[in-house]
Amino acid sequence: MDKFIIEGGRVLHGTLPVAGSKNAVLALMPATLLAPGIHRIRRTPNLRDVWTMSRLLTTLGAHVELDASGELLLDTRSITCFEAPYEHVKKMRASIYVLGPLLARYGQARVSLPGGCAFGPRPVDLHLKGMEKLGAEVTIEHGYIIARASRLRGAKIHLDFPSVGATVNILYAASLAEGDTILTNAAIEPEVTALARMLVAMGAQIEGIGTSTLHIHGVPALEPAATIENIPDRIEAATLLIGAAMTRGTVRLTEVNPYHLGTVLDKLEQVGCTLDVNGNTIELQCERELSPVDVITAPYPGFPTDVQAQWAALMLTVNGTARVTDTIYPTRFGYVPELQRLGAHVEVVDNTAIVHGGSRLQGATVMSSDLRASASLVLAGLVAEGRTEVLRIYHLDRGYERMEVRLRQLGAQIERVQTDEF
Ligand code: UD1
Repeated sequence: MDKFIIEGGRVLHGTLPVAGSKNAVLALMPATLLAPGIHRIRRTPNLRDVWTMSRLLTTLGAHVELDASGELLLDTRSITCFEAPYEHVKKMRASIYVLGPLLARYGQARVSLPGGCAFGPRPVDLHLKGMEKLGAEVTIEHGYIIARASRLRGAKIHLDFPSVGATVNILYAASLAEGDTILTNAAIEPEVTALARMLVAMGAQIEGIGTSTLHIHGVPALEPAATIENIPDRIEAATLLIGAAMTRGTVRLTEVNPYHLGTVLDKLEQVGCTLDVNGNTIELQCERELSPVDVITAPYPGFPTDVQAQWAALMLTVNGTARVTDTIYPTRFGYVPELQRLGAHVEVVDNTAIVHGGSRLQGATVMSSDLRASASLVLAGLVAEGRTEVLRIYHLDRGYERMEVRLRQLGAQIERVQTDEF
């Protein structure tokens, strides 16, 4: 088990390219099950969730290899198993992404139910209703989703909530269904759009990409596309920009898509940061005193739930009170008691963290509870006085590739150490 040791007080400075998107590549990888063959995805981040998805696809019979340049090769010519076992799903909920492709291409899937997670219940009812609407027979047996269909049929599907995961599963399945599917209130996150583009490159017929109404004309078969380019990770970018703002530094991110970060950039400007956006580059500087700014999470293009914990950390460095409200995951505040160990004044009322910023943070040992919570603890450690130890960083490693190396490149003093502490 690894931990981070951080000596706080360093100002972040420098230039970094943003990594490829974790959430996008997790949706792109299972798409390869739809078209037996050899697929290549460039700009794949080398992180734990990608390893988990690779292992899951390998269990199904695929061959998966990630080279040092970030090119992922997936050979899906001999899929022989149609089951996502609990062992994988409990590590990563996105394992449910194999449901749609297995069902659409092979007529059957057995996928463990994911259960809850560190920040509350996360049902998959919208995924299952979507598969049923497309003509699958779905049952739950012994903790597993069992889905069968000889050939899926296009349907009209309205999502009660624009779920990213349900949109992804429906996109896969409808691409190979017989006839047309009209999906309304679909998620419009950039990761969904990246998947839709990959499916089109594989021969799928999808209209309305980037909008909340997707019209999918099912086709009988898909083919591997030419090499697919993954999109930049907007959550990693937001985390690094927030780190720069917290330490009052100057950081230039390259190979980023500023359009994917609209709301976060607006909020950083409201706080008082100066942003210079030029093509695929964003530079953040802090020349003025920063002010508190509230955020309320919402589906894209709203403020991402995956950035609220980091935002709360930023608000600790600003004089005054800010409210951080999560409407997507109302209990996603596992990081608050840990920030309090660093001396933070934060209270949680219903789905809002009320952050009273401006007081000094002091280094302490804190524990990660989930991926983005860990990011907020690391950021807080960068500005706390003295030494902060962040335990259980395997959560962080799920979604950030060698974060300590990236932060060191920007001047932070942070080390990864092996430990027996749990
Ligand atoms: C994806 C992201 C995750 C992000 C989340 C919200 C990946 C791999 N994960 O997760 O990082 O935090 O989007 O932006 O891309 N819901 C239901 N029933 C369902 C599905 C979802 O009620 O069948 C609810 C959830 O409980 C939650 C909301 O819908 O309240 C959003 O969930 P969803 O968009 O599906 O998130 P994920 O795809 O799991």
